Amino acid sequence: MKGRVLVVDDDADARGALAEALRDGGYTVETAADAFKGLGKVPDFAPDLMLTDLKMPGMDGLELLRKLRSGGYDLPVVVTTAFADVVTAVTALKQGAADYLTKPLDLTELSLVVAREMDRLRLRREAGLLRARLAERYSFRNLVGSSPAMQTVLKVLPQVAASKASVLITGEPGTGKELIAAAIHEHSPRAKEPFLKLHCAALAEPLLESELFGHENGALPGSSGRREGRLQQAAGGTLFLDEISALPPALQVRLLRFLQDHTFERMGGEETLDVDVRVIAASNHDLREEVAMGRFREDLFYRLNVVNVDLPPLRARPSDILALAIHFLRKYASEDGKPLEGFSDEALERLAAYEWPGNVRELENAIAHAVVLASGPRVTAAELPPNVGPAAVRTAGIRIPGSKMEDIERHAILTTLEATGGSTTKAADILGMSVRTVQYRLQQYHSAPKSELGAPTIISRRPD
Ligand SMILES: Nc1ncnc2c1ncn2[C@@H]1O[C@H](COP(=O)(O)OP(=O)(O)OP(=O)(O)O)[C@@H](O)[C@H]1O
Ligand SMILES: [Mg+2]
Repeated sequence: MKGRVLVVDDDADARGALAEALRDGGYTVETAADAFKGLGKVPDFAPDLMLTDLKMPGMDGLELLRKLRSGGYDLPVVVTTAFADVVTAVTALKQGAADYLTKPLDLTELSLVVAREMDRLRLRREAGLLRARLAERYSFRNLVGSSPAMQTVLKVLPQVAASKASVLITGEPGTGKELIAAAIHEHSPRAKEPFLKLHCAALAEPLLESELFGHENGALPGSSGRREGRLQQAAGGTLFLDEISALPPALQVRLLRFLQDHTFERMGGEETLDVDVRVIAASNHDLREEVAMGRFREDLFYRLNVVNVDLPPLRARPSDILALAIHFLRKYASEDGKPLEGFSDEALERLAAYEWPGNVRELENAIAHAVVLASGPRVTAAELPPNVGPAAVRTAGIRIPGSKMEDIERHAILTTLEATGGSTTKAADILGMSVRTVQYRLQQYHSAPKSELGAPTIISRRPD
């Protein structure tokens, strides 16, 4: 069976001819003489495609299309129309028709269009099925990632979670390192025990040491009494050490020892403590480079890096962008009590075109921002942060098209100067301008009133 087609046309001859041509082409066909009857046949016949005339007495083709969609049917609809009425056909396309055919019908064109729609439908169904199957296999609560790059990561998580080995999670800022650490803990046999975090870059050495290992009375200046460190508090569970590259050398030695034999002493303490804690570390610096530079102990690196989970930047997994955007839209819309349905087409295009230097965190902030501003049922492009979009539109208030040549030139000169560390000679060379022109322009920028040229010093705007 090649597929099921429902033909709706008030003209009996046209209906008959269409049905015959389609049956000859191997399709299963049902017909209806008006839009009401057509709608009535949809639930039982379950067509893969509908072919409907536009001009019909009673309910016309456009109305039929709207009723189908509002009833939740998303099957492709191809409309047929008199040659003179192409304007209505275009309206139908805008409202979601898949294509239109002009009458008198060309049977070759008919069979091409129907075959193409059936192909698309099949591909869509297969993709949907595949996605659903993958999502089922490696899904973690609150973790979006059906892209191939994320699936590679997620498929090892169950094994990683089951083992006791130390884990090093690497990835650019905002790629989800902490979220993955929490997911590993939640799916581990330690899930009921504590999951604690310590940010190694947030505290200076004596405090950091005390936070990690605890201290005895008087050992930490300015603090009295004995204090338990995170290692002890996390007993039986998992300790997440964020930005491990910031761990000072002396503490690197102490952590190494703990990883080797589970023992440590509190600051100023004699007693050797022995606790069972799984350590997950994260870094957005390349730790191997830190090792090569002599800033991070190689032995500690290997102890931590028993398992490495490397999170790809968002730009390397474009198919996750929209899924994440929808995930965050649901999250923030429900927090704000706003009944948002989704994004406008233009907003989706902008989200997809942007490079996301701040990765998932930046995307999350952008959506949170948009949800606050959203006034209609769909988030529009204008409600997204202004920098979100293709690179050309993003450049520091410069819009192409939309900016004057002199503003573009000013931007080019200032950005290039920034890149050359202020050398006008190098900048002139890169820009293919004379040094004197560059210098002259700079003088102009300094003396120009702001109203003419805008704020001259903003080179790039990044979201917060
Ligand atoms: N795959 C994902 N699915 C859903 N939410 C995600 C995903 N990845 C990241 N997030 C969300 O994005 C935000 C940033 O993630 P997270 O804090 O884990 O990043 P990070 O890599 O630890 O960043 P940093 O290096 O700056 O500490 C969090 O709110 C997190 O919940
Ligand atoms: Mg983090």
